[in-house]
Amino acid sequence: MTVYLNGQFMPLEEARIPVLDRGFIFGDGVYEVIPVYSRRAFRLAEHLLRLQHSLDGIRLQNPHSDAQWAHLIDELIARNNGEDQYLYLHITRGVARRDHAFPKPPVAPTVFMMSSPLLAPPAELLHSGVGAVSATDNRWLRCDIKAIALLPNVLLRQMAVDAGCAETILIRDNNFMTEGAASNIFVVKSGTLLAPPKDNLMLPGITYDVILELAAANGIPHQVRKIAAAEVFDADELLLTSSTKEVLAITRLDGKPVSDGRPGPMFARLYKLYQDFKRDVMRK
Ligand code: PDD
Repeated sequence: MTVYLNGQFMPLEEARIPVLDRGFIFGDGVYEVIPVYSRRAFRLAEHLLRLQHSLDGIRLQNPHSDAQWAHLIDELIARNNGEDQYLYLHITRGVARRDHAFPKPPVAPTVFMMSSPLLAPPAELLHSGVGAVSATDNRWLRCDIKAIALLPNVLLRQMAVDAGCAETILIRDNNFMTEGAASNIFVVKSGTLLAPPKDNLMLPGITYDVILELAAANGIPHQVRKIAAAEVFDADELLLTSSTKEVLAITRLDGKPVSDGRPGPMFARLYKLYQDFKRDVMRK
């Protein structure tokens, strides 16, 4: 596996960062996950825009222009095996003596990228759907920043794993649904696809956008609005989306079946549209 670190490509085993890196000490950095289909980065412009939003959110200057990123990303894809990959980009505020405040003068950021195989969800998961648990969203108020400081997400997702499930659905203020610990969540009720609005309390998912675009282009009734917790527990269908999982049906929530406990018609429709889109658009 070839990775990129601070201007150089190298084998993963050779990549080293100093222990005073602010990513290590404070979790002071941001990241992106970008799927690659047929050796092309998917929705690169949108991922780079979200990266810029995250960098602005933590007041860190973007170390590269979009053209430079595109060049580095192409190079990383070329140096790794696999038609389909997923790329991880990670930028921290660099290496400095430990002090919460920003280094003054600023130091060079740490820029790290790696590629991993992108594996489509196995057929049995598509057929059965996945389980989820619900939990209080106890994260900060800037969940729109794709921050590397993921301790709340780590603990929340482990709750799902401990319960033999795939994801944790997050409820804010005992009141409304935000997203999953590592995915966006859609609710289906009476044939309408419901999506929470992009705000400071959720990550603006790139896959979330694709799903809403596919719904709009194919006449699927959909609404973007706040989703009450009660609507999640009374849903006809629940869906999760992310760059690495694409779209999956959630068929059990807190140990109870969602409707009849099987993936529903909205999932079947969106899954097919997503696969068609992958074949016709993403791979071209
Ligand atoms: N996570 N919400 C959260 C909290 C996420 O971590 C992710 C993705 C998403 C979905 O965003 P997108 O469709 O752009 O992947 C929503 C990535 C895959 C990760 O951390 O590995």
